[in-house]
Amino acid sequence: MNFQDELIKRTKEIENVIRQYLPEEEGFAMTMAQAMNYSMLAGGKRLRPMLLKETYCLFGGEGRAAEPFIAAIEMIHTHSLIHDDLPAIDNDDYRRGRLTTHKVYGEAMGVLSGVSLLNYAYEVMLKAFDLTQETERVISALRIMAEKTGINGMLGGQSVDVENDGKPITKEMLDYIYKNKTSALIEASMMAGAVLAGADQRQTALVCKAAEDIGLAFQIQDDILDVVSSEKELGKPVHSDEKNHKVTYVSLMGIEQASRQVNQLSNEAIALLESLEQKNEFLCELIRSLIHRRK
Ligand code: IPE
Ligand code: IPE
Ligand code: MG
Ligand code: MG
Ligand code: MG
Repeated sequence: MNFQDELIKRTKEIENVIRQYLPEEEGFAMTMAQAMNYSMLAGGKRLRPMLLKETYCLFGGEGRAAEPFIAAIEMIHTHSLIHDDLPAIDNDDYRRGRLTTHKVYGEAMGVLSGVSLLNYAYEVMLKAFDLTQETERVISALRIMAEKTGINGMLGGQSVDVENDGKPITKEMLDYIYKNKTSALIEASMMAGAVLAGADQRQTALVCKAAEDIGLAFQIQDDILDVVSSEKELGKPVHSDEKNHKVTYVSLMGIEQASRQVNQLSNEAIALLESLEQKNEFLCELIRSLIHRRK
């Protein structure tokens, strides 16, 4: 099977796992459950759960222990998108080809359903204890998820990002922002996949470094697409960064130089993964495919 067909097949498998863990739309809090599911079911590339699963397979992971984490990382990511689009942050009206959650359900429900997805992710991850005897691995994965999501990860990055809208910032701070707002959840995905499969500390540290590079490349490409793509193709508004007066790799060094960085960082990540004794050719192909992604 070629890579594209394989990608479609594996994305469907991820989709099925995610659906099993979504909240029921019932009871008095039904509107919030609907708002949570609205964004979760709007599509999206499912990159983070895919990276989690493929890293789990890379280290020989078997069984269902990774499934709650596959669903949960997409919930945490979707929480970050719902909140990123809020009027107080990037103020964007479209996401994944649909009106944003706050546009459909109102701002209060946007705030609440976003934070509720974040909390629900932990409820879901705790179910992994029922699926495996490897309690220590589940605890390690939970620790990684918590650290990479909070002030020392994605949320830390988002806070510095929004605080500096319209301000000139150093390259050092820009790298802090990217490594946290974007790399951190990709690190969480791949590291959780690794530890759940029983990877040791050296292997997990190598995966963390590769994931940091993948995340940086991913955010730089996102900034490029914000300039060169269209709302139709992306499913979200273009020129959002310009609107919010953001310093990005593109505004700092231009598109060509930024593209070179995407290429270089991605190849570094692949080389790191290929240096391992364990192999997952699909994972390397996936990372390679992100270099020229159009959405
Ligand atoms: C968007 O992430 C936010 C960034 C970190 C750039 P994705 O491009 O993975 O969004 P979806 O999940 O496919 O919608
Ligand atoms: C967002 O960066 C990263 C997170 C949501 C954590 P952007 O603000 O560039 O993401 P998009 O372009 O809105 O998806
Ligand atoms: Mg943003
Ligand atoms: Mg945004
Ligand atoms: Mg963007």
